[in-house]
Amino acid sequence: MQQLKGLILSGGKGTRLRPITHTSAKQLVPVANKPVLFYGIEAMAAAGIEEVGIIIAPETGAEIEEAAGDGSRFGVKITYVPQEAPLGLAHAVLTAEPFLGEDPFVMYLGDNLLQGGISDLVGAFREHAPDALILLTPVADPENYGVAELAPSERGSVGRVLRLVEKPPEPVSDLALVGVYMFTAAIHDAARAIEPSARGELEITDAIQYLVDGGRRVEPHIVRGWWKDTGRLEDMLEANRLILDNLTERVDGELVESQVDGRVVVESGAYLERSTVRGPAVIGAGARLIDAYIGPYTSVGEDCVIRDAEVEHSILLAGSSVCDLDGRMESSLLGRNVTVRRSERQPRAFRFMVGDNSDISIL
Ligand code: G1P
Repeated sequence: MQQLKGLILSGGKGTRLRPITHTSAKQLVPVANKPVLFYGIEAMAAAGIEEVGIIIAPETGAEIEEAAGDGSRFGVKITYVPQEAPLGLAHAVLTAEPFLGEDPFVMYLGDNLLQGGISDLVGAFREHAPDALILLTPVADPENYGVAELAPSERGSVGRVLRLVEKPPEPVSDLALVGVYMFTAAIHDAARAIEPSARGELEITDAIQYLVDGGRRVEPHIVRGWWKDTGRLEDMLEANRLILDNLTERVDGELVESQVDGRVVVESGAYLERSTVRGPAVIGAGARLIDAYIGPYTSVGEDCVIRDAEVEHSILLAGSSVCDLDGRMESSLLGRNVTVRRSERQPRAFRFMVGDNSDISIL
C-alpha cells in the first residue's frame, strides 16, 4: 500500500466555546494541560503516520503553527494547509488535495478525542482495503451529528452502510459519525461531485454517501472506547475527566506542609503550601497553591495561583487565579489570565468584568 498520510482539521470558529475561543483556537484549549490538537497528532504518530497536514483558518492559523511547530517533537512532519473560509469538511479535503495527492489518508477533526488512538483502525484499513472507513458511536442527541443507517447485521458483525445523513431533524438511528475517517483518493472526486448543504458547506457526510451510491466499499466500525467532540463546555470537562482518569502519578514540584492523594501530577516549578490536592488532578509548572484545596478532575494550568480557595472538576488555563473564595468553585472553565476573587470593598456585591458569551452561575 502507498504511504498513509494524516490530515487534521484545525480551522473553524469554535463558536460554542466562546468566550474562550474569542482569543484562542478551540483546538488549543487544553485537556489535562495539553492542547486537544496534540492528542490527535500523537495518535497519528503512534499509528506510524509520518506526514501530517493540518488545515488552518486565517484567524487562528498562526497560533496553531506556533503551538505544533514542524512536528519534530511528535516524530512527524507537519505541513500547514490554509483554508480561506470554513466551507465544510469536504472542502477542507479538496483544499488539501495538493498535499494528499493520490495517497490514502486518515482525517481527524482537531477538536475530537478518541480513546485508544487510531492504530487498530489503521490496521483494519490496511488489511481490508475499503474505499473509506468510518467510525460510529451511539449518542443521545444524534440530530447534532452525521447519522448512519446500517443494514441489519449478521451475527455479531456490523451491517453495511445504507445511508449517511448530516444532522437529520429526525434521525433514523442513534449512530453518530465520529470525527475520524479513513479515505482513499476516491474521496476527492466525491467531494467535487457534491453540492453545498443547507448550512452552505460541502459536507464530508455527503461525500461518503456519494461513495456508497457509487457502489464503493465504505466500512463502518463501532467505536469501543469513549469519544469526545470537545466543542462545548460540558464535553470539555468530560474529556478532562476521562483523560485525567488515566494519569500516572508524578510529583516534581515543591510541597510544603501539603498533601497529594491519588493520581496527581505536580509539574516541576509548581509550589504548594498548606494545600491538599485530591486526584486525579494536574498542577501545571509555575502554579502556586497556598491554603488551597484542589478536588478530583481538575487541571490547573501553568502559572495559575489558587489561594484560600477550593476548586474541583474544573479547567484553569495558564495565568489564572482563584483567591479568597467563601465557597467551592466547580465545573468551571477559566480562560487565560482570568481572576476570580472575593473583594474586600464595600458594599459587598458581585463585581464582574467578563467577555461576550460568558456564563456565570452564583448561589
Ligand atoms: C462534523 C461532521 C459530523 C460529525 C461531527 C463529529 O460536524 O459534519 O458528521 O458527526 O463533526 O464531531 P460539525 O462539528 O461540523 O458540526
